[in-house]
Amino acid sequence: MEKTWKIVLFSCLLGSFLVSSSAQTCKTQTFSNNKQYANCSDLPHLNCFLHWTYDSAAGTVDMAFRHSGTSSGRWSAWAINPSGPTMMGSQALVAYVNSSGLPHPFTTSIDSMSPSMQQSDLSFGVSDLTATFENNNEMTIFAVLSIPENLLSTSQVWQEGPVTNDQLGAHPFSGGNVQSVGSVNFITGQSGGGGSGGSRVRRRNVHGVLNTVSWGILMPVGAIIARYMKVFKSADPAWFYLHVACQSSAYIVGVAGWATGIKLGSESAGVTQNPHRNIGIVLFCLGTLQVFALLLRPKKDHKYRFYWNIYHHSVGYAVISLSIANIFEGFDILQPHKKWERIYIGILIFLGVVAVSLEAFTWYVVLKLRKTGSDKHSRSMNGASNGVNGYGATANGHGHGHGV
Ligand SMILES: *[C@@H]1O[C@H](CO)[C@@H](O)[C@H](O)[C@H]1NC(C)=O
Ligand SMILES: *[C@@H]1O[C@H](CO)[C@@H](O)[C@H](O)[C@H]1NC(C)=O
Repeated sequence: MEKTWKIVLFSCLLGSFLVSSSAQTCKTQTFSNNKQYANCSDLPHLNCFLHWTYDSAAGTVDMAFRHSGTSSGRWSAWAINPSGPTMMGSQALVAYVNSSGLPHPFTTSIDSMSPSMQQSDLSFGVSDLTATFENNNEMTIFAVLSIPENLLSTSQVWQEGPVTNDQLGAHPFSGGNVQSVGSVNFITGQSGGGGSGGSRVRRRNVHGVLNTVSWGILMPVGAIIARYMKVFKSADPAWFYLHVACQSSAYIVGVAGWATGIKLGSESAGVTQNPHRNIGIVLFCLGTLQVFALLLRPKKDHKYRFYWNIYHHSVGYAVISLSIANIFEGFDILQPHKKWERIYIGILIFLGVVAVSLEAFTWYVVLKLRKTGSDKHSRSMNGASNGVNGYGATANGHGHGHGV
């Protein structure tokens, strides 16, 4: 339990550390072609800067996008997106150092039909598209955009990622690369991070923490309580209430975490994390089934109770195994710092060791009681062996494997 709270605390800290800052400012930047721009903006992530002059008579935006601290093995991109602060729908300018060693700029309109960055025309005119790569770490894209009035105040997105053999690879899905969105107003000169990228990262972290704590930690703990406390007559009603309390709080927190996931999924159209999402939906259904099954639980000596137990345990173990699998899927998507995954693996190993030791201890107690077999003990022995055998058939199959 203490570990649970530590995870929550550390995750809050992690969230606040993810806010990054850039020291360089666009005001001091110059261009080798001596161009000057009326407005500039320090974009809040990835060391990027936007410079531009809006010409209202011509209806054009003369602009330069600079990405500092990059390398010749990375691509850089800037886009405006009338459909919002996302990648889908972006009208992008991209540049990378190609295999001839030259900075190669091109435009691409990113939609669900062509999610990879193939050269294509934008929804507005682009002229004078050039790029420079200087100091071995600074990519600048120059262009003149003929944008319609309704796009003079819109969302902007900027991004960077790897290039191998002239092939542009996917950008990283963590840190500044998922926060690099904002708004831009070419007329008033206001530009920057809209904050929605940062809040999205925060919500992804909240989603991860809620689900890891509930589905990934509380539920296995609740299962361990039921399996090993049940054996002892003296803990008889107590284990049941503890188990119910543990699983129902896990379920409530888990549903909240699940809902944040569904919301996140619906917002990132085009980047559906299918297996993660589908496992999540199955988990929600199975978890809900478990809660309702509790209401239909037959009395202890009812003839259907045996079948109910088999059902309850198999669904329970399935939920725990799927939860753990899906948490690792989530780690792959969210890519938090490696230590979070290690901490979670540590907790799983700890729970696994506890479960294995209790399993051994339980069998030791059962066998010992069976041997001594006094009157008083034989009662608890029956209780104990029922406790073990009652679900031994289903539990042993999954029980040893799930935690470790
Ligand atoms: C590299 O980019 C330059 C500038 O766009 C272009 O002229 C050249 O053809 C490109 N080379 C390759 C191999 O694509
Ligand atoms: C942007 O440029 C215009 C035109 O020169 C200027 O009037 C305005 O003050 C600038 N805005 C900012 C925020 O620098």
